[in-house]
Amino acid sequence: MGVDGHGWQPAGPSPAKELHAHSVDLLDVSTGGNVPKIRIPTGPGYQVPFAERIRSEAGLPVAAVGMIADARQAEEIITSGRADAVLLGRELLRDPHWALRAARELGAESRIPDQYAWAI
Ligand SMILES: Cc1cc2nc3c(=O)[nH]c(=O)nc-3n(C[C@H](O)[C@H](O)[C@H](O)COP(=O)(O)O)c2cc1C
Repeated sequence: MGVDGHGWQPAGPSPAKELHAHSVDLLDVSTGGNVPKIRIPTGPGYQVPFAERIRSEAGLPVAAVGMIADARQAEEIITSGRADAVLLGRELLRDPHWALRAARELGAESRIPDQYAWAI
């Protein structure tokens, strides 16, 4: 669902609390960039504060987005309790192997499906 104007410009109360009652398990908190006069301060993790706020106000599990490209940054967002998950968009287009690389960098076990493992 989309909620116009949440974040970069004033908006009404967030309906996030109500969504839990309607079987929504996880909210992907993303903001739009469609208002020409508003300058969005982009940078690594720039939309994370919105996820963090909705998580604390609505008590609903949230996923954070927004120029998350670094494995340690992604890990920190989750371990610090700012979000329950991170989702990557553009970085996965640049590097489709990001998840494997990040798992290796963070020392996590990653299991490559047998069908592919023999080839790698
Ligand atoms: C050009 C562009 C336009 C976008 N427009 C919207 C939008 O209108 N509404 C929205 O919720 N998210 C919008 N997004 C955010 C994406 O839906 C998604 O959350 C984001 O791309 C994921 O973050 P990342 O690509 O920085 O990893 C847009 C992203 C881009 C690159």
